[in-house]
Amino acid sequence: MTTERVAAAASTRIAFFSRYERLRSVTSTNDIVRGWMAEGTPEVCLAVADEQTAGRGRLGRAWIAPSGAALMLSLGFLPRYLPPDRLWRLPAVVALAMADAAEEVAGLPIGMLRLKWPNDIVVAADEGVRKLAGVLSEAEGTGTAAVQAVVGIGVNTDWRSEDFPPELAGSMTSLREASRGRPIDSDLLLAAFLLRLEPRVLALRDGHFDVAGWHDRQVTTGRMVRIEMPDGSAQEVRAVGVDGASGALLVEDAAAPGGERELLVGEVAHVRLGPAERDATRGAPVSGGRGVTS
Ligand code: BTN
Repeated sequence: MTTERVAAAASTRIAFFSRYERLRSVTSTNDIVRGWMAEGTPEVCLAVADEQTAGRGRLGRAWIAPSGAALMLSLGFLPRYLPPDRLWRLPAVVALAMADAAEEVAGLPIGMLRLKWPNDIVVAADEGVRKLAGVLSEAEGTGTAAVQAVVGIGVNTDWRSEDFPPELAGSMTSLREASRGRPIDSDLLLAAFLLRLEPRVLALRDGHFDVAGWHDRQVTTGRMVRIEMPDGSAQEVRAVGVDGASGALLVEDAAAPGGERELLVGEVAHVRLGPAERDATRGAPVSGGRGVTS
C-alpha cells in the first residue's frame, strides 16, 4: 500500500475512535487516557504524544524516548465483552496490529518482527534479539461491569543507534535500524496501525482472536528462557509455546501433567531469552503452542 493510501485510509478510521487527541507533551499517555475514562469517555479513545515526561513501562520501570524518535500512544477500552481471564487479548491485539504495521512501513519482511512474551515487539536477527516496542496494560474494575483497560505502546521509530542510551544500546533497536537506515515517519506508522487495529478490536467484540497469528510471532518458543519472578527468584526452563485461552507462556516441566506448565503474565517479572533452537528440517525456530480458535 502506498504512503498516500495508508494516510487516506487511516483518516477515515478516526471515526472508530470516541476521542482522539494528538498532544505535544504529557506525563504519560496512559494517565491521559485513564483521566478521560474517569470522565466517562466511551471506548475506544486514543491519545498520542510527541513527548512524555514520566513515561512508564511494566513493573514501575521508566520508559524514555526522545521527541521525534518514537511513537507513543495509549488506547482506552471498556472491555465488557471479554471475560477477566481474556483481558490479556487487548494488549496482544495492540502488539499484533503494531507489528503488522511496522513491517509494512519499514519495508521489513513479513514475520521479521516477533513478540517476546508477553507483549514486547522485538527484532530477532543473527546478532541477537533486540527490543523495538513495549506495551503497558493497566486495568481497573476487572470482573465488574465497570471494567476499564488502558493499553499504552511505545515504538522506537526514527531513533538512530548512535543516539541510543549507552546502558540500553545492546538490547534495544528501532525501526530505522531494523530497516538499515530507512527514515521512519511515525505519523505513517500511526496511520498503518489504526488501519490494522480496528478489525482486530471488532473481532474481539465478536468473540474472536487471531490465535494462530499470535502463536506464530512468538520468539520464546523453542528457546531456553530465564524466568525471573517478582520475589527475585529465577528458573531456567525451555519455553514450548503459548496458550491461546489463558495467554500463558508454556514451559517444559517433567513433573507437571502433560510435561508442561503455564506461567501467567501476573506471575512473572521478566523473561530473558537463551539461544534459539533450530528445526533441522526447516532451518527456522521451532514453533508450538496450545491453540483455541476464538
Ligand atoms: C514496557 O516495555 O515495559 C512497556 C513500555 C510502554 C511504554 C508506553 S509509551 C506510551 C504509554 N505511556 C506510558 O507511560 N507507557 C506506555
